[in-house]
Amino acid sequence: MPACLVQGASRGIGLEFCMYLLRGVPNITVIATCRNPGGATDLRALQAKNPSNLHIIPLDVIDESSIKQAANEVKQHNGGGVDLLINCAGILHPSGRGETSLRDVSSQKGTGAFGQHAQNKQTHAAVMANISAKVGSITDNGLGGWYSYRMSKCALNMATKNLSIELGRGRNKVICVSLHPGTVDTELSRPYHKNVPSEKLFSTERSVQYLMDIINGLTMQHTGKFYTWDGKEMLF
Ligand SMILES: NC(=O)c1ccc[n+]([C@@H]2O[C@H](COP(=O)([O-])OP(=O)(O)OC[C@H]3O[C@@H](n4cnc5c(N)ncnc54)[C@H](OP(=O)(O)O)[C@@H]3O)[C@@H](O)[C@H]2O)c1
Repeated sequence: MPACLVQGASRGIGLEFCMYLLRGVPNITVIATCRNPGGATDLRALQAKNPSNLHIIPLDVIDESSIKQAANEVKQHNGGGVDLLINCAGILHPSGRGETSLRDVSSQKGTGAFGQHAQNKQTHAAVMANISAKVGSITDNGLGGWYSYRMSKCALNMATKNLSIELGRGRNKVICVSLHPGTVDTELSRPYHKNVPSEKLFSTERSVQYLMDIINGLTMQHTGKFYTWDGKEMLF
């Protein structure tokens, strides 16, 4: 029976992944993590509809003890193994807006965003999809700005690459990829929606469908790479 772990599932793209998986895969176990299960109203409503298939575990990705506790709970639910791990949690910046220039950058704010991705303490997975962003590509950076967010996604991309090497060895190989979901209509991107043409602002349903199409076609050939929503490889 397939088991998936969606990390950062309280809302936005992570919540949509949970809905997609529960809808599409019979007998699936979805383990959804979020900072504050009590306040995750939509995720809890989804659990009420899928009481035996959806399990909610608290996890704050910038809190080491919370990561350890969540990893232990995952083991209890599923013997420690998941077939698909989606790392989704992310913030643009603690203020809600990316920095436009160097004068807006402070080390404290930067650390908050950076820390979002400085972890992957989860258990064994057959596919690990790290939800990154195009702005995390050094090659593609023609505009500058958004220091913390770009740096955090760049670090996440390096984690994808490193993990693909480490988890590509041995018998239980794991395919590790970074994925750019497009510009998606969520809280995170809300301050910038007015600058995005409507056809380029994806619903969470549309974005997750694109990303699952990519995930479903992954083989070890793809590990350690970065793909945009349309399946094109992006240079790091
Ligand atoms: N939306 C876009 O256009 C876009 C584009 C490119 C990439 N992305 C990436 O897609 C991913 C999902 O973003 P979204 O658009 O769905 O944003 P969102 O609706 O704002 O959701 C962000 C999620 O991250 C969680 N989160 C934030 N800090 C966390 C922490 N310390 N520990 C655990 N969870 C934490 C939030 O949980 P709480 O409810 O507890 O705050 C929430 O579930 C992010 O990695 C983002 O960078 C989004």
